[in-house]
Amino acid sequence: MTFAILSALPEEQSGLVAHLQHPEQVARAGRTFTRGMLHGQPVVLALSGIGKVAAATTATALVEHFGAAAIVFTGVAGGVGEGVQVGDVVVAQDYLQHDMDASPLFARWELPGYARARLACDAHLSAHLLEAAGACVSSARGHFDLNYPAARVHHGLVVSGDRFVSAARESDRLRQDLRAAGHEVLAVEMEGAAVAQVCLDYGVPFAAVRTISDRADDAAHVDFPLFVQTVASRYAEHMVLAFLQKLSNL
Ligand code: ADE
Repeated sequence: MTFAILSALPEEQSGLVAHLQHPEQVARAGRTFTRGMLHGQPVVLALSGIGKVAAATTATALVEHFGAAAIVFTGVAGGVGEGVQVGDVVVAQDYLQHDMDASPLFARWELPGYARARLACDAHLSAHLLEAAGACVSSARGHFDLNYPAARVHHGLVVSGDRFVSAARESDRLRQDLRAAGHEVLAVEMEGAAVAQVCLDYGVPFAAVRTISDRADDAAHVDFPLFVQTVASRYAEHMVLAFLQKLSNL
């Protein structure tokens, strides 16, 4: 059973590549995929690039060509929920496309053809990710020194759209509009909801873990690249390795 680990940017999973045994690179759909073994588990590491279409193409290739039996996304996101701070970790419970709007034909955010706005992540994989994220955050406090002593792990709704949210007004609006419709959003990014949809279409379990790189506010364009360059890969490395280790011990 091949596990796929998907990220948008190389920095979001670069720490993992060094741990791969028997790595083999395969070119497909204009991307480079790396197959190998991690903790005795066959895995394929993939980089989608940024945005929902790029993510959907990559997820489709993972299922169709690489036979991925599950996809786990690891990367960064902007914190939108109150109390979701830079350095925190969000494990997605479900996903919504915040730029989907086929109203008045369908309710705002509803996915035409799916009769709902939110797509759930796999509960079993998400429970393991939550454990791995919790262990990572506690050890970060202790010794791998990521400078976020108050980092917390959250579990809830993550939203995706083809927009880098970089203004406090926009982020507040997003949170308030979604809240008014009963959706309490924790974080925003640009790929996960597309991967969730592809995985639903193929019946492949999907889960996602996102480290908060910025607050999707007026400082996001500064905070995001700094976090991605300095911190993101170490979080991904620790969390994904702990996650795969838990699965291999089952
Ligand atoms: N990924 C990380 N930060 C983000 C932001 N502010 N908007 C969209 N995607 C992001």
